[in-house]
Amino acid sequence: MKSVAVNDEGLVAGLRSEMVGRTREIEAIVAMRATGRHVLIEGPPGTGKSTLLRALAELDGRGFEFVEGNAELTPARLIGSFDPAAVLESGYSPDVFIDGPLAAAMRDGSLLYIEEINRIPEETINVLITVMSEGELHVPRLGAIEAAEGFQMVAAMNPFDAVGTARISSAVYDRCCRLEMGYQSTEEETLIVGRSAGSQIATVGTGVVGRVVELVRATRTHADLRSGSSVRGAIDLTLLMAELARLRRLPHLDPGVSRDATQLALSGRVRVREGCGRSAAEVIEELWRRWLAPAEGDDQDSPEASDPKA
Ligand SMILES: Nc1ncnc2c1ncn2[C@@H]1O[C@H](COP(=O)(O)OP(=O)(O)O)[C@@H](O)[C@H]1O
Ligand SMILES: [Mg+2]
Repeated sequence: MKSVAVNDEGLVAGLRSEMVGRTREIEAIVAMRATGRHVLIEGPPGTGKSTLLRALAELDGRGFEFVEGNAELTPARLIGSFDPAAVLESGYSPDVFIDGPLAAAMRDGSLLYIEEINRIPEETINVLITVMSEGELHVPRLGAIEAAEGFQMVAAMNPFDAVGTARISSAVYDRCCRLEMGYQSTEEETLIVGRSAGSQIATVGTGVVGRVVELVRATRTHADLRSGSSVRGAIDLTLLMAELARLRRLPHLDPGVSRDATQLALSGRVRVREGCGRSAAEVIEELWRRWLAPAEGDDQDSPEASDPKA
């Protein structure tokens, strides 16, 4: 972690150089950081929530604790616990308490970043609610841990996640500011793929990346799909297209290459609507035809047609 404490304007500028677009969100998070408010970031996967928070943690010079939210995150794992072997020897003394990320962040005045907060168990969410309202935490046999100056919680969640979004109660919302991160624009997504796919981009070309991005965006609005792919699908599709083309010594827009890359990158990332009677692979095939298959007249109508075009 770089420890370069900067002023808020410098922080905004630093974050802007790390991220594509998102000026509004960057200013919001810096303002919320400066005022010490707790924050809930809501947005679908791949909208840059983690990227923004990691960049903030790196640039602002304060400590950072990162927690992946899941069903196994018990209060003890979040807060910390006594080392059982050491307790046998020296009893419940404070120096055998091993801080979890919450205790560490509170003591050090750090930023506590919790990913997928909706996935953590109710009792763990209740611990966070207590900390947010009281600024301190009571741990049995240890006593109170007070939040040092600078302690702040930032949680993120996907509002369309099927898991537990309803459990994020008004008690959480009432103690947080809420930052919504929606999908990026087409131009921004194209730039993000360009950055993430690195040198492979040169072989694929930005025109093709634009079509890849359009294809991936179309998965989010397709009538037969309940949920589409994030920009991660566009990054993977671009990388796979370049790599398959290299292995097969074919152009990356060769129909066999681009179709395989499209299915590999996207068929597992989308969810079809119940009762639509189609598989994910079929819907992806349709979108591939529309955005990446050779233009009409090249006779690529049969789904089996994957030989190199003339
Ligand atoms: N605005 C952005 N600028 C640069 N890269 C981005 C941006 N948004 C997303 N990405 C890239 O897209 C991928 C997913 O972003 P991530 O921050 O992990 O999303 P989330 O946490 O919202 O699921 C990462 O590879 C990240 O580098
Ligand atoms: Mg994330």
